[in-house]
Amino acid sequence: MALSQDFQDRLLSLGLARVSEAAALASAKLIGRGDEKAADQAAVNAMRDQLNLLDIAGVVVIGEGERDEAPMLYIGEKVGTGLGPEVDIALDPLEGTTLTAKDMPNALTVIAMAPRGTMLHAPDVYMEKLAIGPGYPVDTVTLNMEPAERVRALARAKGVDASDITVCILERPRHEDLIAQVRATGAAIRLITDGDVAGVIHCAEPELTGIDIYMGSGGAPEGVLAAAALKCMGGQIYAKLLFRNDDERERARRAGIKDFDRIYLRDELVTADVIFAATGVTQGSILDGIKSDGLYLTSETLLMRSKTGSMRRMSYRVPIDHKLK
Ligand code: FBP
Repeated sequence: MALSQDFQDRLLSLGLARVSEAAALASAKLIGRGDEKAADQAAVNAMRDQLNLLDIAGVVVIGEGERDEAPMLYIGEKVGTGLGPEVDIALDPLEGTTLTAKDMPNALTVIAMAPRGTMLHAPDVYMEKLAIGPGYPVDTVTLNMEPAERVRALARAKGVDASDITVCILERPRHEDLIAQVRATGAAIRLITDGDVAGVIHCAEPELTGIDIYMGSGGAPEGVLAAAALKCMGGQIYAKLLFRNDDERERARRAGIKDFDRIYLRDELVTADVIFAATGVTQGSILDGIKSDGLYLTSETLLMRSKTGSMRRMSYRVPIDHKLK
């Protein structure tokens, strides 16, 4: 008998956690081995196998790339048994391939699911991102403010000095100016070498992570995944697509983007209730990485539903030679 066609987010969420766990466990053997591609491939294979066991009629809207460049989990690929509700899937089987290859912190596997047609089909271009955690009025900070102004506005709203604010930024030459402007306020900066989905998620739990605000440009697909996470955890994200050439504009057109200057809010990146799962691959500040004691592998997964604002942290242990069935 076919399942109800409604988006059964409560039932599907545990299945989504399994998908995320499987990808993380598969890439774990490649932590610190210097091979980004192999680590990513292991995560992709496992994520796809597990996803195809779910009773959903899924379509990948944020995936490994366009069909001609990614043989698996490409944008538009149908996933699931086809027997359940029609859903959009946004995924990054290994967010932080270099972090994994070099055994650096905060590599994650990430996946989000929402009803069909409710997640932005973000092309693989850069996106300007600005994110803060829950508890602040809308537009406390905006992309139209200068970076220093954002820091001061957030400090005012938090009731602290600008020097008490910590900003997370991807360490890239393109961010030199941004970093200088933030430093001029006296704020602290946590520079990360990769992984801005984790960077944005950090803002939603400032007491745990020490991060108040995320700024800078990174991948647009990662921006949609980050918006899905913040929709569950609370917090705001502002995002604008950035285009370096006509080819990128053409990719956006093909993805259905019409207004190239639009600033997207969180609920415009993901317009309906969403479920989100992430599993730590390397040790991190929001999730433990995969651990092995020689007999068992243990993972930690964050599983969230925006409908309820609920969050589970799930520990999962399997024999080291397990086969996923
Ligand atoms: P990978 O998953 O391919 O390792 O990407 C990691 C990442 O750091 C993202 O988190 C971020 O959005 C993007 O790359 C930044 O791109 P760039 O390295 O070109 O600045």
